[in-house]
Amino acid sequence: MKGIILAGGSGTRLRPLTLAVSKQLLPVGDKPMIYYPLSVLMLAGITEILLISTPADLVQFRRLLGDGAHLGLRLSYAEQPHPGGIAEAFLIGADHIGDDEVALVLGDNIFHGLRFSDLLLETAREVDGCVLFGYPVHDPERYGVAETDGDGRLVSIAEKPAKPRSNRAVTGLYFYDNDVVNIAKNIGPSPRGELEISGVNQVYLERGRARLVDLGRGFAWLDTGTPESLLQASLYVGTLEARQGVRIACIEEVALRMGLIDAAACHRLGEAMAGSSYGRYVMDIAGELA
Ligand code: DAU
Repeated sequence: MKGIILAGGSGTRLRPLTLAVSKQLLPVGDKPMIYYPLSVLMLAGITEILLISTPADLVQFRRLLGDGAHLGLRLSYAEQPHPGGIAEAFLIGADHIGDDEVALVLGDNIFHGLRFSDLLLETAREVDGCVLFGYPVHDPERYGVAETDGDGRLVSIAEKPAKPRSNRAVTGLYFYDNDVVNIAKNIGPSPRGELEISGVNQVYLERGRARLVDLGRGFAWLDTGTPESLLQASLYVGTLEARQGVRIACIEEVALRMGLIDAAACHRLGEAMAGSSYGRYVMDIAGELA
């Protein structure tokens, strides 16, 4: 299975923070936002990942993550010159996807929860159609909103409906079989001129091949869209990390735990950042798991 991280857009609700820096490179806790969705794909066992962003921002993403070899990954990059919609990722990424299945994650989505990796690995093992993840929110009208039957089969989906039919938001993590490329090619733009992800999901729904997994209230799915929610996300991450002494979305640790790099390599990655507590944490973890 291939992975795509969509990290474009202009972050208008976060200006001036985003005037010179991509939203998905802003700090959340002690690491760049992009580490969180990247670690989600890694935890799903995905190593071939395409990062899509604006031509101006790709330079910084490359500087941060390079070709991914140091993490046991194969990272590649592609431009989305204008925000043409989330589903455009499948057109831009068609060659990358090839004949494979694909997991798409939005670069500004932060997930945290017990046994998330098990859930991701299990989902990635068998994707029949598409798999979405639902999360209860108090303001569903801001999101894609889904309804399911008793078996988790999707029965309705609507993008930012004025009158939501449930409080179940569709999160920015999606697993698809290979049909997604053709479906995205054929949906056509929404009235806003975008290739909407909900349009793709609607096609899977109509084919009876869309499933939604509930993450539930014990899980954290955090918003980073406004300065307030960005700060809250940082506080959440910082609070848990300080209390537990373990880090969320430390990509070097994830690479080590997933068997993508060995302890010596992980230690070297930490050593290069030994001036920060993050770097020292990476070195400690390498020592513990050696
Ligand atoms: O976060 C989950 C929600 O994401 C879903 O519930 C919605 O169904 C889905 O449409 C999307 O809603 P948003 O309002 O968050 O979409 P937005 O246009 O803000 O895009 C989400 C992220 O994707 C944002 O960080 C920018 C990036 N993006 C978006 C578009 C439309 C791109 O990189 N390129 C794009 O063309």
